[in-house]
Amino acid sequence: MKKWQSTDKIIAPSLLAADWGMVTSEVSRAIQAGADWMHLDVMDGNFVDNISFGPDMVNAVSESNDIFLDVHLMIAKPDHFLGRFVEAGADLITVHIEAEHDVANTLKRISQAGCKAGLALNPATPVEDVMPYLDQIDLLLCMTVVPGFGGQSFMEEVMPKVEQAASLRDLRGLDYHIQVDGGIGVETAAIASKAGANVLVAGSSTFKADDMKKAVRDIRNA
Ligand code: DX5
Ligand code: ZN
Repeated sequence: MKKWQSTDKIIAPSLLAADWGMVTSEVSRAIQAGADWMHLDVMDGNFVDNISFGPDMVNAVSESNDIFLDVHLMIAKPDHFLGRFVEAGADLITVHIEAEHDVANTLKRISQAGCKAGLALNPATPVEDVMPYLDQIDLLLCMTVVPGFGGQSFMEEVMPKVEQAASLRDLRGLDYHIQVDGGIGVETAAIASKAGANVLVAGSSTFKADDMKKAVRDIRNA
């Protein structure tokens, strides 16, 4: 298991925005640019209206380097595929509360497999829904776009949920990370960080920037 960074800001470029004609060198480019984690968006054409990639891609990235792999499963039946993503080299597996599964059991299985366990909620899902699971998770992902596609606009209306997640964490003496995903760039990173998010997923604003290193640094310092 690679180092689980629990302090400071964590920047996780999303592979979705990379050039897929040269995936492994794109990951190297992200690492050289200062990325802390690599965010891998798995979409099944069912839970979301798009298809991306599966465990084989996660495995290819895992074999090519050492960066921490943050695997975001936007799939209808995450429990069914769990073992394959563990085998592929995922370090963190995040599942959606809205998917079809026994959430508590899925989270337990992720942890038992030696991975960090993340729970994601869509913009329309209230924090109340994830409350029963907070003591089981290492990371809470508050989606700041409706999942399915990169390059969408940040939904600032999600910020009260991030604030709520941060105060619940303090109240209950827990230590999960709070991640935001969707429409993150320098300005929105500042807004999300202020609300309490410490893990920032950024696709378009990093991979498509003229200077990726500067983009990562600016998001970190925002
Ligand atoms: C959206 C994905 C995101 C996406 C973010 O469904 O979960 O990770 O890649 O892309 P940007 O940063 O371009 O909004
Ligand atoms: Zn994602």
